[in-house]
Amino acid sequence: MDRKILDQAVRKAVEIRNNAHAPYSKFKVGAVIVTGSGEMFAGVNVENSSYGATVCAERTALFSAVTQGRKDIEAVIIASELEGKAVFPCGMCRQVLADFNPEMRVILVNAVTGLIEKEMSLSEIFPEHFTLR
Ligand code: THU
Repeated sequence: MDRKILDQAVRKAVEIRNNAHAPYSKFKVGAVIVTGSGEMFAGVNVENSSYGATVCAERTALFSAVTQGRKDIEAVIIASELEGKAVFPCGMCRQVLADFNPEMRVILVNAVTGLIEKEMSLSEIFPEHFTLR
């Protein structure tokens, strides 16, 4: 991915995280989906009083891209911070992302420092995903 687009996506993920609605866990996550043409779609985690209806930042961002008709997903940038480290995406988000591109780049950003902490392909952390194709 173009360096300028990556830098922009990292900054956007950190910024958008401030909009997370996480009154229960207090754990805020920001995510940005980058498409093959360099378009960006941001999302945050939105918690719910029934807990189970909570949606993660990664899925919010992906659903926003799909809503706009963009399915050519190249990367997901995830900004969070727990005890000094960025966290990995949950299993449900991995499966949802894998349906669109199991080889997409997954970039974990420390939301406090704003720095990229880890970078990998989705298939490295989620091999043999379920598929009907
Ligand atoms: N969360 C995400 O947004 N992404 C993840 O990959 C892991 C978990 C959110 C869901 C919930 O609002 C909070 O983090 C604590 O689980």
